[in-house]
Amino acid sequence: CFAGCTGTESPSASAEAGADNVPTYIVGIDAPYPPFSLVDKEGKPTGFDTESMEWIAKDQGFKVEFRQIAFDSLVTSLEGKNIDIIYSGMTITPDREEKVNFTHPYWQVNQTVIIKTDSSLTMDDVMAGKATVGTQRGTTAGIWMDEHLVANGTMPKENVKHYDTISLAVTDLENGNIDAVMFDSTVINDVMAGKNLEKIGSIDTHEYFGIGVRKSDTALLNSLNEGLDKLMNDPYWQELITKYNME
Ligand code: ARG
Repeated sequence: CFAGCTGTESPSASAEAGADNVPTYIVGIDAPYPPFSLVDKEGKPTGFDTESMEWIAKDQGFKVEFRQIAFDSLVTSLEGKNIDIIYSGMTITPDREEKVNFTHPYWQVNQTVIIKTDSSLTMDDVMAGKATVGTQRGTTAGIWMDEHLVANGTMPKENVKHYDTISLAVTDLENGNIDAVMFDSTVINDVMAGKNLEKIGSIDTHEYFGIGVRKSDTALLNSLNEGLDKLMNDPYWQELITKYNME
């Protein structure tokens, strides 16, 4: 809290302006989440969302630092002012919108289901609840199964297996501990690369990704929306899409 502040309206410590009067915002990411949030060989955050964030920050005249946060803790970290921005392939959902203000959508995904190539499991089996399906904890894949399969009794709750990352779920699939994995469609190329895995189907969830900020940070939201709109109309946006081989 700055000198003279009442404690109720305290600006995020992280957003304090430096000597050059340029504020620094802490951006929460859960990496690796290819191609959106990555970490390069030197440990530097990169990826589609990270590079987009850097462009927007430059355009809007602020600085950013990236902080690694488990995906299912991003929203509470934002509320607790441990981070100021969430930018890590997060789907805009009604539940999250109760706690987070999202920018305009910047990307759309559906859900994809994969199995081992030597498995005979079908998408119908999955939809009938007859399979164990891995997902990343706190993500829309698990939320979708809870709402559409578990809630109506089609799928036993234990059949949805929650992992800290998608790669841990995929490893368990390769080891034969679960039958399938469900995740955002754009992630498929990176997840399956070089592995004996295949796609058996998709669910048209029509999810949109947004950048999240605290409800109270309306000026930051406006600035992110302005920067994002400019970026999406700039040739750099297409360059990033090509660079990261996104579908
Ligand atoms: N889009 C999905 C969701 O919002 C999954 C996002 C996972 N992102 C990540 N950085 N691990 O629930």
